[in-house]
Amino acid sequence: MTLHIKMDDKVDADRLEEMVQGVVGEPLDRPDGPLKVSGMAPYAMDALPDGSLFGVLVRSTVPAGRMTGADSDAIEALPGIRAVVIDDRFLRNPAQGMAGAAPVQDPHAIAYFGQPVALVVGETFEQARHGALMLGLTLESDRDVVVAPDSPGVEIETPEKKQQSSGDLAKAMREAAHTVDGTYTTPSHVSAAMEPHAAIARWDGDDVVLRGSYQMLRFNRAELADSLGIDEKHVRILSPYVGGGFGSKLGIAPEAVAAAIASKKLGAPVAVAMSRQQVFETVMRRSETSQRIRLAADAEGRLTGIGHEALVSNLPDEKFSEPVTQATPFLYRGKNRVIGHRIARLHRTCAGSVRAPGEAVGVTMLEIAMDELAVASGIDPVELRLRNIPDEDPTQGIPFSSNKLAEALRMGADKFGWDRRSAEPGSVRDGEWLVGMGMASAVRVNMLIEAKARVTLTSDGRARVETDMTDIGTGTYAILTQVAAEMLGLPVESVETRLGDTDLPPGSGSGGSFGAASNGTAVFLACEEIRRRLCDRLGCEPGDLTLKDGKAITGNRSIPLAEVLAGETIVAEGHAEPGEAEDKVRQATFGSYFAEVGVNSVTGETRVRRMLGVFSAGRILNAKTARSQCLGGMTFGIGMALTEEIFHDPRDGHIVNRDFAEYHLPVNADVPQIDVVLLEERDAWANPLQAKGIGELGICGAAAAVVNAIHNSCGVRVRDLPATLDKVI
Ligand code: MOS
Repeated sequence: MTLHIKMDDKVDADRLEEMVQGVVGEPLDRPDGPLKVSGMAPYAMDALPDGSLFGVLVRSTVPAGRMTGADSDAIEALPGIRAVVIDDRFLRNPAQGMAGAAPVQDPHAIAYFGQPVALVVGETFEQARHGALMLGLTLESDRDVVVAPDSPGVEIETPEKKQQSSGDLAKAMREAAHTVDGTYTTPSHVSAAMEPHAAIARWDGDDVVLRGSYQMLRFNRAELADSLGIDEKHVRILSPYVGGGFGSKLGIAPEAVAAAIASKKLGAPVAVAMSRQQVFETVMRRSETSQRIRLAADAEGRLTGIGHEALVSNLPDEKFSEPVTQATPFLYRGKNRVIGHRIARLHRTCAGSVRAPGEAVGVTMLEIAMDELAVASGIDPVELRLRNIPDEDPTQGIPFSSNKLAEALRMGADKFGWDRRSAEPGSVRDGEWLVGMGMASAVRVNMLIEAKARVTLTSDGRARVETDMTDIGTGTYAILTQVAAEMLGLPVESVETRLGDTDLPPGSGSGGSFGAASNGTAVFLACEEIRRRLCDRLGCEPGDLTLKDGKAITGNRSIPLAEVLAGETIVAEGHAEPGEAEDKVRQATFGSYFAEVGVNSVTGETRVRRMLGVFSAGRILNAKTARSQCLGGMTFGIGMALTEEIFHDPRDGHIVNRDFAEYHLPVNADVPQIDVVLLEERDAWANPLQAKGIGELGICGAAAAVVNAIHNSCGVRVRDLPATLDKVI
């Protein structure tokens, strides 16, 4: 039995509020936590079957051209080497898997430096690595390959559907009392998940089982089948534990296809793990961006016009492009608008979704421009934003499902002590440090993605939740356990959640901040169905049933669940789908960031001293995991502001700094006290849980608070991230 909901309208009652356990929302520890910290949770490379062979990828050293040969025979003669595998299907999707993507015309074409072209398989990892290092490739390099967005001859695409304009922005700029007009840039970023990409493939006849590290299993299954040219019913993927994804594992990557092809060929399990350098080079990056931002405001700081025109890049023919301006159409008021989106076609590592694609860099730069407008108009930055919150989505003319931006701004200012800020740069000193405060708004679109889950209530009064949803470190195991425990009146210890197996009902996957709310809704619906079936047995109406402490209570009866079940098991499925609600209201999550920094007046070094984020995202499903997501997002915000930057070699586009020693993520010493406040909110348009996504909200503008604090401390305005000391001194 399946209970299904399509979100065409808002839900009419708060069905979860009627539950009495109060488990949803609690800061429940992760049930998977002890396994993880004791090293017992099997990650992708932790469950090697007996007789496994090891594959090491070999990469192209030219940015574009063809591979015309390889000295495979010499390598296959080396001790322990079982095969050099070169297969058209490696190159079929040059970047990440995308089911249904057109195969490249030339199966030996190379699209970027670092693209995998061969797999050397050995009996040990060391033998395979040696063979991979020794393998000689014959590569023909194209001449005049374009690897930088400002190279002469670069092809720039202007997709018509992604350009928007209304009113007359040029006129609004001419007539404005205050304006900002600048170009803001961000470099390429990488996801930087802790667990590198890895896969172990083994075949049983025509069926392949792949253990790997992926975010979106039902899609990944289709992608792998497509890449191998087989039907997806022959593919099973297992990803019960994922050591971070941040977008890099949304799609399958070359190690999955290579492991599956080699395993089939050799008739043995084959494990392929990428080195850190390979992850940097061959998985994907966030595109660098160049953003022209124009703001026009009247004397009171009310926006009359906004222009946000982005130039991003990707490989030729790739469909994805960084949606920089995604939140610009609705964050602030202003009738005259220009939204622009252009894509430079380059031979650099594929650009894909990295840590909140769009808003992470788009809102950040818009919020730096807003700070410049605050300075230009002499209006306090918090007040400037409060004056510009629209009553409805100003572009689409539809209401917000909810919008707590004003509350987040006011509460943040209050809790941070914003009234102690001096508006005058350079006026607060602490020894050789110049101290300043900055702030920014947070905004991220909210999505519901189709999801299914199965819940089984067994005769001993325990429940099992099953879906192919993943937990990428975000807390899915905890949250789905809580939803089921709440709905079925069970202690959380009586609920077991199984994830990460495509044999289970297809979930939403983890990405885009949609996982917890989408898959949580599927679990909620399955449990509602179980409650109905219990009512059938008890002869009561669902409204008269209370489930608590493992008992069913109705009228004056209180009966242990095991007794109601009388030796039987109830199995139910929940199925959630997005619907017309998406077009009726603008759904988004909002918040505010506040940062205090010290800028060293001698070296130009910036240290973040404290930081606060206030966020609203509908019902919070787990106060601890939600807070942790926000802390992580703001930490990445510090990285984006101060240190994170991929350097591409200007000759061939290759990523020069391809490890954690040279790609600088913030470490503990860089991260100060961060406080997170989660605002109470329910969003009846989102789903029956009235919860929205919070995973990525914490990074969507965070870096701007830091950059704006730098300006407040010393008067230096950085428009080109990261704000390294050479730019600040
Ligand atoms: Mo996300 S960057 O959609 O995993």
